[in-house]
Amino acid sequence: MNFNLPVLAPSILAADFSELGDQIQQCLDSGIQWIHCDIMDGHFVPNISYGPAIVETVRHIAPDAFLDVHLMIENPDQYIEDFSDAGADLISVHYEACTHLHRTIQNIHQHGCMTGVVINPATIVELLRPILPDVDLALIMSVNPGFGGQSFIESSIEKVRKLAQIRNDLNLNFLIEIDGGVGLKNAAKLTSAGTDILVAGSSVFKTDDIPARIAELQKKALTGTDHVV
Ligand code: DX5
Ligand code: ZN
Repeated sequence: MNFNLPVLAPSILAADFSELGDQIQQCLDSGIQWIHCDIMDGHFVPNISYGPAIVETVRHIAPDAFLDVHLMIENPDQYIEDFSDAGADLISVHYEACTHLHRTIQNIHQHGCMTGVVINPATIVELLRPILPDVDLALIMSVNPGFGGQSFIESSIEKVRKLAQIRNDLNLNFLIEIDGGVGLKNAAKLTSAGTDILVAGSSVFKTDDIPARIAELQKKALTGTDHVV
């Protein structure tokens, strides 16, 4: 699948689950190609969200969308097959949750999915260096994972810059994603720092007009790049 970067990736965690089909359809009709699914186990993070059954439902609602599954769980290896079978295109795991990160990344690959590695706000970007050649995406958490609707941690922008610099130095081409507190105020700053994928939960779904909000966010995201006229 080819994407025009930067990509806006709505996180359905903030959607109204009684209208999930309709809300996802509104996203697709607004040009969204990438959907972010947040999986929380109540152990790695202090909240429980949903599991493979919902990812499978999203896959049915949006057969052509790119499904980005963010595992905020302990023992991710145990569930990779389930999420792959549910229709994930990319599975990302936390650096902090994986004792044998390289093995877990290989496991994801072997299940036919693209791979992502995620770091929490208190983890430094440099620690990712050894794994970067093996991943398709690196995700910087800009809130402490576990809940939607939290405030963006400003120092995350510097982490994006650093990661983009490392990508350049190592001549790699993994995607840089940011997740947490992303909205109209910071979208342009983030893409100008080097972010490719902007995950947005509350800012997309906690509004009366999802298509209008998506258009505004996409416009802001583009102003941070050189593509705008
Ligand atoms: C947080 C999740 C995020 C969250 C983003 O643990 O990983 O994807 O849903 O939500 P907002 O955009 O509301 O901060
Ligand atoms: Zn997420």
